[in-house]
Amino acid sequence: MSLLQRLLVFGVAAMAVGLVARVASHDYGDALTKSILFFEGQRSGKLPPTQRMTWRKDSALRDGFEIGVDLVGGYYDAGDNVKFNFPMAFSITMLAWSVLEFGQSMGSDLQHALEAIQWGTDYFLKATSIPGFIFAQVGDPNGDHNCWERPEDMDTPRTPYAVSKQFPGSEVSAEIAAALAASSMVFRPINREYSARLLKRARMVFEFADTYRGSYNDSLGPWVCPFYCDYSGYEDELLWGATWLFRATRAPYYSNYVLDNINSLEKSSSYAEFGWDTKHAGINILVSKLIKSQTPSVINADMFVCSLLPNSPTASVSYTPGGLIIKPGGSNMQRVTALSFLLLVHSRPLSKANRVIYCGDDIVATPASLVQVARSQVDYILGSNPLNMSYMVGYGKKFPEMIHHRGSSLPSISQHPQHIDCGGGGTYFSSNNSNPNLLTGAVVGGPNVKDSYDDSRVDFEHSEPTTYINAPLVGLLAYFKSH
Ligand SMILES: *[C@@H]1O[C@H](CO)[C@@H](O)[C@H](O)[C@H]1NC(C)=O
Ligand SMILES: *[C@@H]1O[C@H](CO)[C@@H](O)[C@H](O)[C@H]1NC(C)=O
Ligand SMILES: *[C@@H]1O[C@H](CO)[C@@H](O)[C@H](O)[C@H]1NC(C)=O
Repeated sequence: MSLLQRLLVFGVAAMAVGLVARVASHDYGDALTKSILFFEGQRSGKLPPTQRMTWRKDSALRDGFEIGVDLVGGYYDAGDNVKFNFPMAFSITMLAWSVLEFGQSMGSDLQHALEAIQWGTDYFLKATSIPGFIFAQVGDPNGDHNCWERPEDMDTPRTPYAVSKQFPGSEVSAEIAAALAASSMVFRPINREYSARLLKRARMVFEFADTYRGSYNDSLGPWVCPFYCDYSGYEDELLWGATWLFRATRAPYYSNYVLDNINSLEKSSSYAEFGWDTKHAGINILVSKLIKSQTPSVINADMFVCSLLPNSPTASVSYTPGGLIIKPGGSNMQRVTALSFLLLVHSRPLSKANRVIYCGDDIVATPASLVQVARSQVDYILGSNPLNMSYMVGYGKKFPEMIHHRGSSLPSISQHPQHIDCGGGGTYFSSNNSNPNLLTGAVVGGPNVKDSYDDSRVDFEHSEPTTYINAPLVGLLAYFKSH
């Protein structure tokens, strides 16, 4: 077969996946605005006068005070009111990567994206301000999850949890270092002083993570598991943190670190994984872009692409009949957005180098086909799917109305100023009414393997939004808005 024939073969495969995308004509700009606005709904702490999502009010204003540390701020991860710093840091890393890669396409939304990042980095500066300690979480997750309460009148224990030299947590620390380093690059042209502060802290936090190695599972297991248990180990976060520090500093120390340790990823079967726990595919794509010398990353990044493409003999994901990527585990949309983001990012150096990837069986991945798969996923989210519904709250005519989210499902303080206690929220949780507050821009876990969606508040695996679903989507939407 000639190369052209093979390209045509792949072209047909890509069209099959894109079947339902035929009606696609989406307002990516509107979706971008909303995807960033969502982060305002997840804010913890004292809200600024510029807050646009006004049904949310101040909350958790004394976090850390019981031990004399100011830990006010940051984000609630999802539909609950705990501040889980491990996935929070990953979300900030991905927001920063979205801006670094596609910020020039964000227009007036760039300012809001920067605010969303800074809401995270201001908090991480607090969470890393005491030498020898890194705060990993605020809020007792069991107390929190047993209640259905608005963040504004939360009365469950706001216990702060930290890792230390004696009780290390290299995954959470190195991910915070990655977030600070990536964000320092975002702010460099805008606010040099702030950028330098972030970078200095990133280096310190990385050194701590690398010197005192261990998983936060071992000391904080009862509080971080099963919610954000570290299943895949901390070695990937150390490499990921070093890669971002290399990108931010260009210091040989970090490139040497990456080159010395990247081989440990080589044999891992996780090359196709990317999310808050497993960074492998993201590391390979970033390293293959940054470090030109011999590393297994280029091969692994290409294998990642082949693991995703439909009809590829090494595909390790499934697609629903309607064309959505499906991987096992809850909150599927987090994988859809994170994997699509990587495809889009990886298409750019391929395109520049005029390179294609051979996946076997005459399947050839062109840069355009990577972009096409990413676009088909974004279009599915926005409504090009068998139910003709958008999975982003407030976007399109039909979208999830009963999302698993405490703040969204309970009346706003401005409508109902009286305290609603732990048990008092139960009637709102089990009500069949639509949520009273629109958490605009929130993307939920999404449909099942058959493209169906129940819109049920109880069914958190499908109806809960998370910050790490939205963070990579911000970059994808910015790109498609201008292409
Ligand atoms: C963390 O705990 C989970 C659940 O017990 C376990 O599956 C995982 O291997 C542990 N991870 C590490 C790095 O110890
Ligand atoms: C979705 O839209 C298409 C095209 O307009 C239509 O044929 C189909 O019946 C719709 N499906 C549902 C479930 O509304
Ligand atoms: C909500 O709807 C379900 C199914 O129709 C029903 O079984 C349940 O009793 C309803 N709940 C309330 C609080 O009305």
